[in-house]
This record gives sequence, C-alpha cells and structure tokens, in this order.
Amino acid sequence: MPGVATAIITGSGGLIGSASVEHFIAAGYRVVGVENDMRARFFGSEASTRDVSTELAMRHPDEFEWVELDIRDADGLMRLFDSRSGNRSGNTHGCPAFARLGRVGCPDRLRS
Ligand SMILES: NC(=O)c1ccc[n+]([C@@H]2O[C@H](COP(=O)([O-])OP(=O)(O)OC[C@H]3O[C@@H](n4cnc5c(N)ncnc54)[C@H](O)[C@@H]3O)[C@@H](O)[C@H]2O)c1
Repeated sequence: MPGVATAIITGSGGLIGSASVEHFIAAGYRVVGVENDMRARFFGSEASTRDVSTELAMRHPDEFEWVELDIRDADGLMRLFDSRSGNRSGNTHGCPAFARLGRVGCPDRLRS
C-alpha cells in the first residue's frame, strides 16, 4: 500500500508478537510477521502458534501478512527487507537472532 509504513514483527504468532501485530495495525501500519512456528518444534504441536498466525491473517487480510521464515535465515531476511518498503521493525521471537545477524553482518537498515 503506497504511503503506508510497514512494521516487520518477528515471532508474530507468539504472545508478545501477536499483540505487537495488533498494536501496529491499530496505529496504522501495514505489518509483515516473520514466524516459523518454532514453538511447535520446541514444545510439540500443542504449543504451535500456527492458529494465531492464521487468525491474524484472516482478521486483517489487507494489513497483515505472515511470512514463514526463520529469523536466523539472514539471506531470507535480506530478501524480505528488499522486497518490502518499511521503516520499523519489532523483534519478539525469543532468541537473540538480531545479535546473531550482527555476527554475520547486520546492515544498518535492519537495526531499529
Ligand atoms: N511473555 C512475557 O510476559 C514476556 C515478558 C518480557 C519479555 N518477554 C520476551 O519476549 C519474547 C517473546 O515472548 P513470548 O511470550 O511472546 O514468546 P512466545 O513463545 O509466545 O513467542 C515467540 C514466537 O517466536 C517464534 N519463533 C521462535 N524462534 C523463531 C525463529 N527462529 N524464527 C521465527 N520465529 C521464531 C515462535 O514460534 C513463537 O511464535 C521472549 O524473548 C521473551 O523472553 C516476554
């Protein structure tokens, strides 16, 4: 959407991430969620956040997009950032992935 700022939220299906998605949508942002349901891999299917991600996408079809991507996939993240315009990001995925990105080289535009 031209003229609408984009917020990228990692861990967007999680407790903090999903609330952040709602917050930024209410504030007028278009939101891209980065979420790979790692929770299900850690804790089993009962801990999956897939339903939350699906529900967010259904509730906000024009404002929210869920990208199934591991935050540690630096190349994937670069492709995501290159393909979206935006000026904000939120990080709630529960692991120090941005620190890891820092070790492999984190461009200034990935820092918020
Ligand atoms: N819940 C709280 O009250 C609270 C309070 C303070 C700080 N925090 C911190 O906020 C962060 C998020 O907490 P939460 O309660 O929302 O956790 P959560 O487990 O509900 O959400 C984390 C989400 O990140 C996703 N995720 C994990 N690894 C990923 C990866 N590599 N790539 C993409 N997605 C990935 C998970 O699938 C999950 O949906 C944590 O660092 C937590 O320590 C939480």
